[in-house]
Amino acid sequence: MDYVKIGRFIASMRRERGMTQRDFADLMGISDKTVSKWECGNGMPEVSLMPLLCDALGINLNELFSGERLDDASYKKKAEENMIRLLKEDTLLKSNIVGGDVLGQARNVPLTTSTVHTVNNAFWSTIGSEALGVTALPSWGGYMTEEKLHLLGDMTGKRALEIGCGNGRSLKYVHDRGASEVWGIDLSPEQIQRTRVFLSSQGVQAHLLCAPMEEDCGIPTDYFDVVYSVFGIGWTTDLDATFQRIHTYLKPGGRLLFNWSHPIHKCTQLTEGRLVFCNRYFDEGWYAAQIGGGEIMLSNRMMSTYINALAASGFRIERLIEEGDHEALCSDQSDFAQKARIAPVGFVLQARKEGGARRA
Ligand SMILES: C[S@@+](CC[C@H](N)C(=O)[O-])C[C@H]1O[C@@H](n2cnc3c(N)ncnc32)[C@H](O)[C@@H]1O
Repeated sequence: MDYVKIGRFIASMRRERGMTQRDFADLMGISDKTVSKWECGNGMPEVSLMPLLCDALGINLNELFSGERLDDASYKKKAEENMIRLLKEDTLLKSNIVGGDVLGQARNVPLTTSTVHTVNNAFWSTIGSEALGVTALPSWGGYMTEEKLHLLGDMTGKRALEIGCGNGRSLKYVHDRGASEVWGIDLSPEQIQRTRVFLSSQGVQAHLLCAPMEEDCGIPTDYFDVVYSVFGIGWTTDLDATFQRIHTYLKPGGRLLFNWSHPIHKCTQLTEGRLVFCNRYFDEGWYAAQIGGGEIMLSNRMMSTYINALAASGFRIERLIEEGDHEALCSDQSDFAQKARIAPVGFVLQARKEGGARRA
């Protein structure tokens, strides 16, 4: 969807009705910041608000998704285009992180850490989770859930650190599982602020640090029982340095748990029921891709890259999960589920810092 065009359309319809952003926000029962966000093209109204929004602006849903007034002649054609677009975007939302179908339009970029951080920070500070869907525990993505996998195990009295803690939903989950301390680090000041507000509204105390995971930011060493990351690790510009740092944060015997999109998912596309390679599996170059009206910068790492980097940092690899939950996969008829029935779309890896007692 073209968020910028839709945003401009909302603004012009609002002005046509003589409303300020504040008048419109009051009418909708939301904040004027939210209205401004839509009008700047940084997100879409939630589905539940759409009927009220259309009523208030005197437009219909088809016009909202098209970002323009439609006459009778163009109405049907636009409705069909919008339906196809929404179906495609629904598939993307379920994939959490981009797959090969989106990467077809990505452009290669050189790896410049400061540029990658600036671009990704801008994305996560604005549309982030709205564009990429659920990226928090109990989901490990790719039809894998903590409820089925029990990877965290008993967290009672454990100290936990999340890398790329986003808006804090996983920190709350880990806290509710009995962790004695929860820590989070994230690149984006807005995400850290959202987490702070969310966790304090839930009565959860957390140590939150705003910094890139690649850098030293004063996290204690030999301190944590579990370091985990849910769709966080893959954003690093330096995988070796990140694993080396995480290794120092863990107590001997402590565990690292993280997930990411599977490298096979990133370079394949579902075409007429078959998986077709649309990129080279071995290509680990950096690229910029457009998602939901924003831009992200990433690289596709091979599975061997993760495993070799963990081993080189002193981790013992204990478990690699690549297959989604059979029941969940079979009850979903989407293209994404069809893809996930053929090959992995996500993975979860568990590794341990050598030196402690071997326990779950
Ligand atoms: C998919 S979200 C994680 C969501 C999180 N699992 C949750 O429960 O809400 C990825 C997060 O990684 C952060 N991130 C991206 N690059 C980073 C970096 N280099 N260092 C630290 N955090 C980073 C983003 O700001 C974003 O909040």
